[in-house]
Amino acid sequence: MTTTKKPFFITTPIYYVNGSPHLGHAYTTVAADCLARFKRLAGEEVFFSTGTDEHGAKIAKKAEEEHKEPQAFVDEVAAEFQALWQELNISHTKFIRTTDPAHKRAVQRVLQDLYDRGIIYQGFYEGLYCTGCEQFQTVDDLVDGKCPDHNRVPEHMKEATYLMKMTVLQQGLIQRIKTDALQVTPEKYKKEILSFLQGEVLQDISISRQNVKWGIPLPFDATHTTYVWVDAFLNYLTVLGWDGNKETVPAPWPADVQFIGKDILRVHATIWPAILIHLGIPTQKVLFTHGHILSGGKKMSKTLGNVIALSDMTARFGVDGTRYLLMSAGTFGEDVDLTMERMTEKYNADLANGLGNLVSRVIKLASHLENWPDFKQTEKEFVSNVALGTRVFYNAAFEDYNFSSALMSVWQNINRAKVGMTGDKEEDIDAANKKVDKEKPWELIKNDPEKFRKVMAELLERLYVISRLLDPFMPNTATEIRTALKEKKIEPLFQRIK
Ligand code: MSP
Repeated sequence: MTTTKKPFFITTPIYYVNGSPHLGHAYTTVAADCLARFKRLAGEEVFFSTGTDEHGAKIAKKAEEEHKEPQAFVDEVAAEFQALWQELNISHTKFIRTTDPAHKRAVQRVLQDLYDRGIIYQGFYEGLYCTGCEQFQTVDDLVDGKCPDHNRVPEHMKEATYLMKMTVLQQGLIQRIKTDALQVTPEKYKKEILSFLQGEVLQDISISRQNVKWGIPLPFDATHTTYVWVDAFLNYLTVLGWDGNKETVPAPWPADVQFIGKDILRVHATIWPAILIHLGIPTQKVLFTHGHILSGGKKMSKTLGNVIALSDMTARFGVDGTRYLLMSAGTFGEDVDLTMERMTEKYNADLANGLGNLVSRVIKLASHLENWPDFKQTEKEFVSNVALGTRVFYNAAFEDYNFSSALMSVWQNINRAKVGMTGDKEEDIDAANKKVDKEKPWELIKNDPEKFRKVMAELLERLYVISRLLDPFMPNTATEIRTALKEKKIEPLFQRIK
């Protein structure tokens, strides 16, 4: 193989450690994991990064409330994130923490460089600041005078600060986004960000705070610490082991795709590329913006009592069940609405009755078979990437980051119809279940042993293919299916839930 190609680089946001990980965090991270696993299945080398955003006023305040030193506090929460990703089978290449000494050194080096070149300069900043967002807000952002995301009145702040030049980059940013040199997707988010950029003069941004001790000191003025977002964005480079020298950026950069939630689109499409442009480093290729998870049609909140706890989901549906339900809930990019009731129904229909039932029926029936296929040929086709290539719909869905659609093609026999292919094998779960119903292999065992062998060999091959297509989404289940195909027995994969 000639692979001079750089690794495919996928990033998740780094998560604030002011609280335990929640469903929203898991949603982005599981999606990124599915994409990483798909790319590996397609034979690509992948660098997949995630981590924690550990500085800033919000986190310092939380540590204080818990009577803990900030470092001890963030160590605990970062460990929770790491344990959760392990439980959810997240296959990240590296977990970055903004309190890593190497990260801090690189941030300082970047700031010094920008300061030396006059891109960062001293000044004043006055505005409305929401500590929930850790962002300045414009009057237009507010609803009834409050930050709509945090339902609180922002503070009026006027302080001495260092600023980074932004206004000079405004037209350049618009140009990059318009031409998809920096592709903001889905389309509606591209429109949203372009209308923001074209609508008002981009202010130079404040990149330091005077009264926030819990942060990285500016190398040229230790009475200030670095604004959390500037600190945080650089994770996307330091995670690669980058030391802050703009001349030597490690190969996985530029990121092929950065997954973010819609609430952090604006900063990711303005401040972050601005830093890169100032440093002469290529901007990220794709900024994929997803919607939020709602519960029963509303934003999850403690007051409404509609929070779906991730631990409740994993306890009820297992790890793979949870991954499946998150990824099949709706189109990635749109808001998706979850309720325990609907998820339970879907679990029973798709996993217990659909996939689970198929696997146990086929494996049980095949116990009457003397010789099982060895799947060598099919396996070879997957390893050499021929088999995936024939799954046109599945592949196209992944290219669009449309995870629910890729999953649907594994369950329902829609790939051939949609792309007008004929003669493709019926390898989908629903079709395979129908085939079992139609052929009634249990009757064939005695009546037509020859046909029985043929039907079963085909069904077993289909199970193998299905297991491969499920690899990105449900890695444990996929492995269990292949183990069953080797050991010729299986425990029920998913039990019906009441
Ligand atoms: N630390 C910053 C990101 C810095 S990246 C350089 C941050 N952290 S966060 O923990 O508040 O949010 C991280 C991500 O979780 C965001 O992409 C946000 O959209 C996502 N989610 C938070 N709640 C969510 C839902 N209810 N649903 C889906 N995702 C949501 O912002």
